[in-house]
Amino acid sequence: MSSTLSIDGDRLYRSLEALGRIGAYRDDDAGVDGVCRLAFSAADGEGRRHVVAAMKAAGLSVTVDGIGNVYARRAGREDALGPVMAGSHIDSVATAGRFDGCLGVLGALEVVRTLNDAGVITRRPLVVAFFSEEEGARFGTDMLGSAVATGRVPLERAYGLTDRDGAVVRDELEAIGFLGDAPVELPPPHAYVECHIEQGPTLRAAGVDVGVVTGVQAISWQELTIVGKSAHAGTTPMELRADPGVAASRVQLELRAMVRSGRFGDALRATMGVTVFEPGLVNVVPNRVRATVDLRHPDDAVLVRAEAELRRFLDRVALEERVTITARQTARTPDVAFAPAVIERVAAAATARGLTHQRIVSGAGHDCQEMARVCPAAMVFVPGERDGISHNPRELSTLEQCENGVNVLLDVLVGLAEEEGP
Ligand code: GLV
Ligand code: MN
Ligand code: MN
Repeated sequence: MSSTLSIDGDRLYRSLEALGRIGAYRDDDAGVDGVCRLAFSAADGEGRRHVVAAMKAAGLSVTVDGIGNVYARRAGREDALGPVMAGSHIDSVATAGRFDGCLGVLGALEVVRTLNDAGVITRRPLVVAFFSEEEGARFGTDMLGSAVATGRVPLERAYGLTDRDGAVVRDELEAIGFLGDAPVELPPPHAYVECHIEQGPTLRAAGVDVGVVTGVQAISWQELTIVGKSAHAGTTPMELRADPGVAASRVQLELRAMVRSGRFGDALRATMGVTVFEPGLVNVVPNRVRATVDLRHPDDAVLVRAEAELRRFLDRVALEERVTITARQTARTPDVAFAPAVIERVAAAATARGLTHQRIVSGAGHDCQEMARVCPAAMVFVPGERDGISHNPRELSTLEQCENGVNVLLDVLVGLAEEEGP
């Protein structure tokens, strides 16, 4: 169903700018201001309070659960029916722009404001949600809040996760005042829809207005601890060394060789985002390296093969470099297919608005993939400028691009909220 309503693009964009000022920092490398709102940091707390205030100002009733997920409810005409939920996250990586996650949350809130202005009450209630630590950039497990809410990650395990400095999830959540008392188990909503920036170049290059997201690729994160022996850089003969730095570098090169080999098709993505050498001194052979590996593929079976091949290489390199390598899986999600009925609604809404669109599988992880386990779910993607760069302060989608995506979100939410059933 296509709504006759349209959102206020200026108001939406202003709200993105206002949230983007919280946790802002000057990024001289990027040449623009960036955003740092790592999960449960003071800036995240401030961002949360800002969004909760906006939710309340829009007349929503807000609850916070035991992992800090925030749900803001708008009553429906038949208020006992299962609600339609929309949202995303407002935590960020340490070098973020203003759009990742925030568009889904503030977009859903803009839908509510639009309905408020028009005096429209939907049949089913609507819930605007934001989930905790979607990025996994601080505590190592992505989609943490939505994974707890949908039962994939037990609450006690989530509470015990620590960041690099040993800070614990539960304490940090309490410190920012978002250790809520609502139960974390989320009663499955009628449906869930998320609007998000694409975070890649595909839609912009194709010149289409929105992406109809059919699913998310499989994601594997590992933390490697490579231990060797520190020694004097000038006096220790090369053949006597056990250098974990060399081992880490070989792993990095092997990842690229795996991608280029063609053995995993052409869709394998491999990234070593962290390598920390200890003691980290110019004239000391390091004794320990902490590194991370991010492997992704649209087909879980192919990702399993890549993980196995990497494990074999780690064994070999450990032997050859005389180091020990411990690999700990910090996050692992299979590829996820969204619900055909919701996908079709997204495509139909775009068509009805005269917006060009194409189907796309998400390269990034999203809360929607967790929600897809418990209810029909799908996503709307908005193209990005500058080759769709993301997890970078230069991330940019224009007012019009955001407005198009959120208008589609509006139509899909209104359509779902009128649906029959429990
Ligand atoms: C989430 O941003 C991811 O890393 O895919
Ligand atoms: Mn995101
Ligand atoms: Mn992200």
